[in-house]
Amino acid sequence: MALNLQSSIYVAGHRGLVGSAVERALRARGYHNLLLRTHAELDLTDQAAVRTFFDRERPAAVILAAARVGGIQANNTRPALFIRDNLLIQDNVIDAAYRAGAQKLVFLGSSCIYPKFAPQPIQEDSLLTGALEPTNEWYAVAKIAGLKMCQAYRREFGFNAIALMPTNLYGPGDNFDLQNSHVLPALIRRFHEAKLRGDAAVTVWGTGTPRREFLHVDDLADAIVHLLATYDQEPIVNVGWGEDVTIAELANLVADVAGFRGAVRFDASKPDGTPRKLLDTTRLGALGWRPRIALREGIEGTYAWFRQHVAEARL
Ligand SMILES: NC(=O)c1ccc[n+]([C@@H]2O[C@H](COP(=O)([O-])OP(=O)(O)OC[C@H]3O[C@@H](n4cnc5c(N)ncnc54)[C@H](OP(=O)(O)O)[C@@H]3O)[C@@H](O)[C@H]2O)c1
Repeated sequence: MALNLQSSIYVAGHRGLVGSAVERALRARGYHNLLLRTHAELDLTDQAAVRTFFDRERPAAVILAAARVGGIQANNTRPALFIRDNLLIQDNVIDAAYRAGAQKLVFLGSSCIYPKFAPQPIQEDSLLTGALEPTNEWYAVAKIAGLKMCQAYRREFGFNAIALMPTNLYGPGDNFDLQNSHVLPALIRRFHEAKLRGDAAVTVWGTGTPRREFLHVDDLADAIVHLLATYDQEPIVNVGWGEDVTIAELANLVADVAGFRGAVRFDASKPDGTPRKLLDTTRLGALGWRPRIALREGIEGTYAWFRQHVAEARL
């Protein structure tokens, strides 16, 4: 039975950056039978609670957008939390979805779980061909286990679980906490606050030379909904913008959008992370999908959202 607009779809992590965008995208396409539970209502690390939920609700499809997510600092200081929570969440949800008869599950890996020195742009076949970036290996090992679990359940049980590999994401609803956030929201907040204080300069971590790719979360959500309906195969699929920028270019772009007129400096004593991360999106293009939201436009929208929500955003 194919999914239709009446099918019940469980969006796990619907309050998060990705989950909230997936909820918007599904509703915009007319999927109205959405199952949503906050972290407080359903702790996905609790196996018994997850099984009870799936047995009762029996969703037709599951988008697994709940995870323990964070930047270099958070990964470095909380390795046990990152590996434990992610292994438990994905193990509980994938297994319970299969047992409860879900027709489809979408799992999210990440571009940061490819080998640190993978040839660029990164093809899906690079997975597990080299050492990981040490600063986030706990998260990466868990995520690799998750996408392998999807493939194993497909092979052994015929469970229609697909795994997507999004690049760095940004957009409305992002985490702007300076300790736990990713580079782009952290830059937005820092340049905004520096502008308000009238600072002469902002110093950015690292050399500014690493190259990164950024995809607006509404583009990712669009890809997820497209592949939910159209892609039923084992191979993982990269979801990216297709071009990268240096951190220095990004910082200057954010400074410009935020209206910060001071100097942008770089602290080379701080870690850079992976030198380059650009996904090869040939497979995704062949599946009939392309991103639409260019970086400046996306940052402008995200900055506008940040300013409107600065009081209630996760600061
Ligand atoms: N953000 C990126 O740049 C990026 C890039 C590539 C891939 N991804 C992937 O996309 C997915 C979602 O990431 P995101 O950026 O949307 O993260 P996010 O904004 O932190 O959202 C994650 C959501 O999961 C929920 N959650 C965490 N632990 C939970 C638990 N034990 N039980 C129930 N809910 C729980 C969180 O709720 P609380 O906040 O209440 O804990 C939050 O709503 C992840 O799989 C991530 O690996 C993200």
